[in-house]
Amino acid sequence: MSASFHRPIFDKVSLHQDIAKVLVDEVSLRQRVRELGEIINREYAHKDLLLVSVLKGSIIFMADLIRAITIPHEIDFMATSSYGTGVSSSGVVRILKDLNTSIEGRNVIIVEDIIDSGHTLNYLARILQERQPASLRIMTLLDKPERREVDIHVDWVGFSIPNEFVVGYGLDYNEIYRNLPYIGVLKPSVYGAPE
Ligand code: IMP
Ligand code: MG
Repeated sequence: MSASFHRPIFDKVSLHQDIAKVLVDEVSLRQRVRELGEIINREYAHKDLLLVSVLKGSIIFMADLIRAITIPHEIDFMATSSYGTGVSSSGVVRILKDLNTSIEGRNVIIVEDIIDSGHTLNYLARILQERQPASLRIMTLLDKPERREVDIHVDWVGFSIPNEFVVGYGLDYNEIYRNLPYIGVLKPSVYGAPE
C-alpha cells in the first residue's frame, strides 16, 4: 500500500469499536421503516408518486423504505454538499447532482437521512417548490430538533434523537461508518473531542 494513501481508519478490524452506544437498533429501524412505508401506501394510493433521495446518507433508508412501499412509484436522486466534511453543516448548500426527471405536476416526497440545522432541507425544499410539483412533502429518518437553525415543516420523522453525532444506516463521519446496520453514537475521541 502506498504511504500517501494510508488512512488509519483502514487499520481497524471492526467499526463497532468506535461506537459509544447504539441509539436505534436494527429491529427498531425495521419496524419504523415498515410503518413509514404503510403511511405512504395509504396517503398516495392511486396517485403519481416520486421519491427523491438525498445522497448519500439516505441510501440505506431509501432502499429499505421503497421495499416497505407496495404501491407503484418512481425514484430519483439528488446530491448536495454543505461545504466541509466535518460534524456540522455551514448553511451554504450547493447542488452536486440534480434530478434526472421533471417534477412539475407530480407528487414528490423528499427522503432524507437526518435533519440537523435544517439548512440543507430548507434550501432543497425551496428549489424543488419552484419547479411546481403538485405536492412536496418531507420524510426524514432522524431529526435533531434541538439543533434547528431554520424553521422548516417536516411531514414525517422516523425518530427524534438528542443532540449527538450519529453514524450508521447510511450516515457517515468522513465518509466512513455508513455500513453499520444500526444508528450509533460515535465516540467523541474518534473526531478528536474529549470523552
Ligand atoms: P443540516 O443542513 O444541518 O440539517 O444537515 C443535514 C446533513 O448534515 C445531513 O443530511 C447529514 O449529511 C449531515 N449530518 C447532520 N447531523 C449528522 C449526524 O449526526 N451524523 C451524520 N451526519 C449528520
Ligand atoms: Mg444527508
